[in-house]
Amino acid sequence: MSLLASAADAAYALVRPLVHASDGEAAHDLTLAALQPLPRARRALTSPALATGLAGLAFPNPVGLAPGFDKDARVAHAMPHFGFGFVEVGTLTPLPQAGNPRPRLFRLVEDRAVVNRMGFNNGGQAAAAGRIACLRRHGLPVPLGINIGANKDSADRIADYAKGAATMAPLADYLTVNISSPNTPGLRALQDKGALEALLDGVAAEQGTAAKPVFLKVAPDLESADIDDIVAVAVDRGLAAIIVSNTTIERPALSSRHASEAGGLSGAPLAALALQRLRDFRAASGGQVPLIGVGGIATPEQAWDRIRAGASLVQIYSAMVYEGPGLAARIARGLERLAARDGFAKVSDAVGTAG
Ligand SMILES: Cc1cc2nc3c(=O)[nH]c(=O)nc-3n(C[C@H](O)[C@H](O)[C@H](O)COP(=O)(O)O)c2cc1C
Repeated sequence: MSLLASAADAAYALVRPLVHASDGEAAHDLTLAALQPLPRARRALTSPALATGLAGLAFPNPVGLAPGFDKDARVAHAMPHFGFGFVEVGTLTPLPQAGNPRPRLFRLVEDRAVVNRMGFNNGGQAAAAGRIACLRRHGLPVPLGINIGANKDSADRIADYAKGAATMAPLADYLTVNISSPNTPGLRALQDKGALEALLDGVAAEQGTAAKPVFLKVAPDLESADIDDIVAVAVDRGLAAIIVSNTTIERPALSSRHASEAGGLSGAPLAALALQRLRDFRAASGGQVPLIGVGGIATPEQAWDRIRAGASLVQIYSAMVYEGPGLAARIARGLERLAARDGFAKVSDAVGTAG
C-alpha cells in the first residue's frame, strides 16, 4: 500500500466518528473537500500480476472507483494515490441539475449499506469538461471513465446521451452509458431493447472521430429475458463492456432505521444480488462481452469471486464509507495474493474460470 493510502487510513480512523456523526451528504462533501487539495497522482499501484487490458486500454490494476463518488471530476486526480487502477467520474448530464431535495443520502451503519436518491445532482458536462481537460494536460496514471446520463426534465433523453458522447468522448478513455439509476423516473426503461438500440446508435453517431469504448451500466433488478435482450444488443452494437450493477430498488432484510428510505441500495446487502446478476450476464453472453463487477464489494475475496465469475474489472464505492480510503489498495494487494494462492500468474488469467 502506498504511504499516502496507509496514512489516509490512519487519519480516517481518527476522523471516522466525526464523519459518521454528520449527515451522509455532509460527510461526503467533507471527504471531497479533504481530497481536492491533494497533489496529482503520478504513479499507480501495479504489478505484473495486477496489470490488465480491456477495450484496448491498459489498467495498472483491476480495482476502480465507481461513479457517484466523484460526480463532477473534482478529485479524480488524487484517487490513484489510494490504489485505484481506474477512476469513473459522473454521472454527468448535459445541463447542471440540483438533484432531489436533501436529505437524500443515508448511511445504514448496522447493515454496512447506503441508500441514495441523489437524482443526478451535478454541475453539468461543460463545467466538468473544463476540469477534465486540465487533468488531461497534466496526465493521469490510470484510465479515466466518464459516466453520462440524461437530465430529469429533458424532452429527449436519448438526445441527452448523444450530447454527452459528443462533449465527453474526446476527454474520456471510456464512456459509460448509465441507464440504471433508480432516481430519475423512467430512466431504467431505456434498458428495453428498442430504446437501448436507439440510444446506443445515437451515442455512436455523435462520437465521430473521437470514438471511445462504450460501457453500459445496468441495474441488478432485471429478469432473465431483459438480460438476454441487453446482451443481444451489446453484441450487435459492439459494446466494449457491461457494468453489473447499479444500486437496487429491492430491500432485502435490513436492520437500520433508514432501511425504508426511498432510493437505491448499495453496500453489503447488494453483494449477493450483484454477484448473481454478474453470473447471469456471463451465462447469457458466454464471455462474448467483457463484464465489470460492482456492488457490495468490501474484501479481496469478494473481488476475487467476481473475477472468477467473469468480471474483467471491479469497482467499489459504499464499502469505502465503512472501511476507509485504503480499501482499494488492500483489495488490489489481496487479489495478487489470491491469484498466487490459486495458481494464476496474473489476476486476469482467472476471469470467468469459476465455471
Ligand atoms: C451516493 C451514491 C451515488 C451514486 N451515484 C451514481 C451515479 O451518479 N452514477 C452511477 O452510475 N452510479 C452511481 N452510484 C452507484 C455506484 O456507482 C455503484 O454502482 C453502487 O453503489 C454499487 O456499488 P457499491 O455497493 O460498491 O457502492 C451511486 C452510489 C452511491 C452510494
